Amino acid sequence: MVNINKFDELRKFVMPEYIFGNNSIELAGHYAQIFGLKKVLIATDPGVILSGWADIVIKKIEQAGIEYSIFSDISPNPRDFEVMNGAVFFKNEFCDGIVAVGGGSVMDCAKGIGIVAVNDDNILNFEGVNKVDYPMPPLICIPTTGGTSADVSQFAIINNSGEKYKFAIISKAVVPDLAIIDPLTLTSMDSFLTACTGMDVLSHAFEAYASTAATHMTDLLAKDAVKLLIENLPKTFENPDDIDARGNVMLASLEAGLAFSNASLGCVHSLAHSLGGYKDMPHGLCNSILLPFVIDYNFDYNPNKYMDLLKLFAPKAKNISNSEAKKALFQEISMFKESLKLTESLANYGINNSDLLTLSEKAIADPCNATNPRAPKVDDISTIYSEAL
Ligand SMILES: [Fe+2]
Repeated sequence: MVNINKFDELRKFVMPEYIFGNNSIELAGHYAQIFGLKKVLIATDPGVILSGWADIVIKKIEQAGIEYSIFSDISPNPRDFEVMNGAVFFKNEFCDGIVAVGGGSVMDCAKGIGIVAVNDDNILNFEGVNKVDYPMPPLICIPTTGGTSADVSQFAIINNSGEKYKFAIISKAVVPDLAIIDPLTLTSMDSFLTACTGMDVLSHAFEAYASTAATHMTDLLAKDAVKLLIENLPKTFENPDDIDARGNVMLASLEAGLAFSNASLGCVHSLAHSLGGYKDMPHGLCNSILLPFVIDYNFDYNPNKYMDLLKLFAPKAKNISNSEAKKALFQEISMFKESLKLTESLANYGINNSDLLTLSEKAIADPCNATNPRAPKVDDISTIYSEAL
């Protein structure tokens, strides 16, 4: 008889170099210089320009004696054509590296620009796992939201504007070379963005922890991220200038990002990607609406993991049955969402029964389903959407 050891299954862990701390944004020019860049494309968006974070980066790039061109035609849920325009811009401006300053949309678009500029192909052809042949030019990511963690992940999510769904590019080739993570950038987020991006972090942590590809290391990170969020996200919602709480939310975002980048995700994200492309809804809002219903769907397929997470919300929840725990976790997540004033359902965003088949057929093809604890069918996905209406 062959003995199976828990270490027989080989695992790898991928992460970029990162710098974490208040005012680290001021190192943007220094690090562009270390990479030997002569002219950088600064990827950003109009909101980040207004907030002043892009100006700090521009100033530091100038002080480092590096030329730059700014590309800011990037929308939330970045479109395929925005990526293609950015890649043309990158080449026409003779840039040799990218500095992305913004939220997940900016960073995902910057990743897309990088791989298209080098691989010379349409961004739509990189959909899926390991489809990128050649690495992108040096990419420095400076996140300004505590959410998507695109600054440390192997994921880039782009909106296929023709087919109206968001697709995932999953590859080591889209891991940035450096993440400069400055918690102070979170202070410019309004309360709705704070809530949505925070729920994205919670969804990353939950999905990584329950993933079929979870490891000891991703579990440590995911669990701590949930703990930090429970303790700090509501505080930042009530007091946007609580710097310690903002820092802890940014730390949770980093931890959950490293966890999901290596353990991957699940049905919350596969359903959210379909929804976000179809209705152009904010990603974190989609996750927030779907999370409790997906937990309900998955619970019995990984009860121990969900029980662990329940205990973080309700430490006294001991010696209870799986069905009681499932209900309790649904309730805890719902109350947490209420504390962030995220109480709306899909119907509030114009989704109705006639949309469910289209949404479900797109969601079933998403690679995030591969690591969900329960293998979904189209009917299952449709049921989850209908429960969230
Ligand atoms: Fe996400």
